[in-house]
Order: sequence, then structure tokens, then C-alpha cells
Amino acid sequence: MPRHGIFLLSKKGLSIVNQDILNLSSLAENARQRQIHALFTDPDRVGQFSLSAAGLFLDYSKQNITRGELSSLLSWAEKLSLKAKVTEMFAGEQINVTEKRAVLHTVLRAPAKVQQAVLGEGAGELAAAERQMADIVNKLCSGEISADDGETISHVLAIGIGGSYYGIKTALTALKPFHSTGLQLEVLANIDGGALMEKLAKLPAKTTAVVVISKTFTTQETMLNAAAVKTWMLEQSGDKDIIARQWFAVSTNLDKVSAFGISREHTLPMWDWVGGRFSLWSAVGLPLALAIGMENFSRLKAGAFAMDEHFQQAALSENMPVLLAMLGIWNRNFLEHGCQAILPYDHALRALPGYLQQTDMESNGKSVSIEGEALAWQTAPVVFGQEGTNSQHAFMQLMHQSQDIIPCDFIVALQGASDYHHHHQVLVANCFAQSEALMLGKTLAQARAELKAAGAGDEEIGRFAVHKTMKGNTPSNTLLLDALTPESLGALLALYEHKIFVQGVMWQINSFDQWGVELGKVLGNDVLSAMAGGESEQLSSSTTMLIERFIKQARS
Ligand code: F6P
Repeated sequence: MPRHGIFLLSKKGLSIVNQDILNLSSLAENARQRQIHALFTDPDRVGQFSLSAAGLFLDYSKQNITRGELSSLLSWAEKLSLKAKVTEMFAGEQINVTEKRAVLHTVLRAPAKVQQAVLGEGAGELAAAERQMADIVNKLCSGEISADDGETISHVLAIGIGGSYYGIKTALTALKPFHSTGLQLEVLANIDGGALMEKLAKLPAKTTAVVVISKTFTTQETMLNAAAVKTWMLEQSGDKDIIARQWFAVSTNLDKVSAFGISREHTLPMWDWVGGRFSLWSAVGLPLALAIGMENFSRLKAGAFAMDEHFQQAALSENMPVLLAMLGIWNRNFLEHGCQAILPYDHALRALPGYLQQTDMESNGKSVSIEGEALAWQTAPVVFGQEGTNSQHAFMQLMHQSQDIIPCDFIVALQGASDYHHHHQVLVANCFAQSEALMLGKTLAQARAELKAAGAGDEEIGRFAVHKTMKGNTPSNTLLLDALTPESLGALLALYEHKIFVQGVMWQINSFDQWGVELGKVLGNDVLSAMAGGESEQLSSSTTMLIERFIKQARS
């Protein structure tokens, strides 16, 4: 925003913010000259720049920001009516304007009386869907639904992609110690036949149940994978009734589901007012519930609801999702850092970076305002990450010594899930050490002194010291969980969902559509038809040549 603050946008609402942007831009000029560690001369910094909410603890004292700068961001948020916008979302206003939909994933994890207040009679559908989920879990676990010959169902394959995949995958991985039903869960997303073969090799056709998750029930990858698994299962089992008995669907498109052969009884609803990437809390979570049981699934939702309550009730200055969003905006737009690293120091959270890549970048990777005007500022950063400590032996070299500053979110559970307590201590030590190292860096003088202490002569010091300096000054958040439980995972996912929403409000975009993804889908079909010999005028000569090479090689 600093460079672009002068390009005043004309429509009502957008011009209001320009004085704030200019003010923040000039504060940022000053911040750029500052070392984060110098801010710690304030003895109360850690107390002032940390908070607890919904069982999570956030330390943001290692951000390059002062109380005054944060207050300026928050007062800008107030001018953009952030609080009112939060209320609108939770009340079910049609805030997804381009798709004319409400955004109500939060109501899925709310108590019945809240559901009733927001949805009125529609609340009954939620309760019915929840009962249907519980019934399916119960029938599969108790053996009421079993293989043709009465053998118990042993495996479940969930087929879905994008928002119908990432949340399930992340929660299944994170909550492995809570897998308690005895069912073995597998998840299939990619259209790559290699991924399909890998899954099929693990599955006994006769005792596998399948859940197809697709809001539209038209998504190419999901439909092709579902058709291939169907054929394989019918062939392998020799049981023509297996689809009707052992397959389930979660979708809004009931006609397509029944045309596929899945019974109405086995079809769970989705609603237009739940976006795919925010849908884990709905019947989309069925595969998760089949692994962890309904009680643990409710605990996950309770954790998310606790964060929802905090988000709605806490003052902006003490509101964890709001603060996370403001820090992200400060880094992205004012300090001009284009990336954001997500670094869970927890093997169980290894799928989280991928999940956040989708929720964040698919939501906020936009360049026009909700009013349809070109934005004069950047929106979502490039989100990437990996579990620690693996990340330290991969891309973190660049974070220490390249010219780019990449803000990080470190996430760690204080109690480990394994019996290897010393391993956990070493893991946590590495997490804390990285945020420290990225903030402090190493000056030339320090590098010289170290070399000297190690016995190097002047010539060697002169040559090598510069290679051993590190820029430091990398801002980070550290999020602490007491332990990784269904509740803390629910709170963590809801925290990021709300952070994304707040940033969307600040950037004045619609975070809940994803038209960009559609272009790829359309062109994908075009390319496919060209590969089958059809004409396609839209394709460039490069793509045409690539197709020709494919056809030649595929035939030879
Ligand atoms: O990635 C684009 C997207 O449209 C997501 O929003 C959605 O979660 C995913 O594809 C899958 O869509 P569906 O649930 O309709 O199969």
C-alpha cells in the first residue's frame, strides 16, 4: 500500500481509507529502518504483544511493529466497519456478493439455539444431517452396514478435491491419536492415475466403504476417480449391490448423486452457504468422523466455536484473528513482504501448510474490490511451508541469508503426542531457536568475533566473515497449543479462517468466490478435446505443440 496510497479509488468507502493508508505508509518508512530486537528494550513488550484465546496462545512480540502502529491499523479497521462486517457474516447476510450467497460455516459449529436464531426452520436440516452422519458412523462401526457376506467394513476411501479434501486430510493427519473407530481412512484427490493405483493397492474392495465428496458433483477429478473406483470395486468384489450398500455422498447435487448410483439414504447434504474450503464442519467431515468418532468430531467443532465466540466478542485490540490479520497486512502491504511461511513444528500438522495455502490463497488471491474496481494494493501473500525441523534443512537457508524477508508463523504443541519426550523437547527447542535466529541474525562484527575465537587469522576472517552474516529482522508469530487435541485443532483452523475473512474486509475484496480456478477448468476441457482430435482456436501455438508431442508419445 505505501507506494500506491496515492492512487485514490473513487467509489464510496474506498476513499475513506486513504488518509489512514498514507499515515500507515509513513509509519512503515520508519519501521523499515528498525531492528525488531531493539523493540525488546521495552520490558513489557512480551506482556503487551501476546494473548490467549480459545485455548491457544499467540506471541507476536517478534513482529516489527509498535503499539502505535498496531493502533493505527486497528483504527483503520474500525473505519472499514470491521465489527459490523463480522456481525453480518455470523448473521447470514449475503456477503459473497458475486455468487449471491451467505457465508455461514460458523453456524455449523454453533449450538442448536444459535442455529435456530440464524437459520430459523432451516436449522432442522443441520440437525438432521448431523443425525444422519452419526447414523452412518454407527452403522459402519457396528457392522449394521457390512460386506455382502457380513464381513465388517475395515476401510473407508474419501474421494474429493480442493475444499472437499484439504480440511479432511489435515484433520485426519493431525488427529491420528484420536482415530478410535477401527476404520482405516484413505483420501484420494489427484486425478493422477498413480495416486489412484497407490490407494487401490491399500484397499480390500469387499470391505471398503467409499464417501464421494463434491459440492457440485461435477468436478472432473472427483468424478473420474469415483467412476474408476466404482468399476474396480464392482470387478473385484463381484457384488453388484456394493455401490448401493457401501457408498455414500456429500453434495448439493442430488440428481447427479443418484444417477451415479448412490442412494438418497446414503447422501448427505451440503449447502450453498458453506464454501468448499470452509466446509470441514459440515457433513464433508464424515470421513473424519468415521475415523475419530462423532464425539471427537463434536470436540473439534467445540474448539472452533470457542474461537468464533472470541472473534465476535473480543475488542479488536485483544482479538486473536484480528491481530493475526493486521500483522499480516502490515507485513504484506506496508513492509512489503510478499510471502508468508507456515511452520508447524509438529509432524501431525504437516498437512496444515497445504490446507492454509488453499484457504488463504484461494480466498484472498484477488485484484478487484468487492465493488468491482481494480485494487491499488496487493492482497494475499504467497503462503507456503513445511513441518519443522524438516523446513530448517530445506528452504530456511533462504530465509536466513537471502535478501528477502519472509514472515513466519511458528506453531507448536507444548505437550508432544509421542512417548519420545526428549525428541519433543529438541523439536520445541528448534522451533523457539529459529524464531530467535531469524529475528537476531548475525552481524559482520559477530561473525568476525566468532571466527577469531575459533582461531582464524586476519586474512581468513576478512574472506569468510561476510559469508557467515545473517540479516535477521524477520518477523514471526509463535502460536502455542497446550496439546494437539480436537479442540485445539478446531480453534486453530477457525483462527486462520477468521484471519482470512478480516484480511478480505481490509483489502475490500470478496474472499468467498474463486473464479480464477474456473478458467483452468474450462481450458482443461479444451485441451482434452484437442487431445482427442477436436479443434480449439483458443490455444496458443505453444500449447498446441505440447499437445502434439503428447499425442505422438502417447501413441508410440
Ligand atoms: O478449487 C476450486 C473448487 O471449486 C473449490 O472451491 C472446491 O472446494 C473444489 O473445487 C471442489 O469442488 P466440489 O466440491 O464441487 O467437487
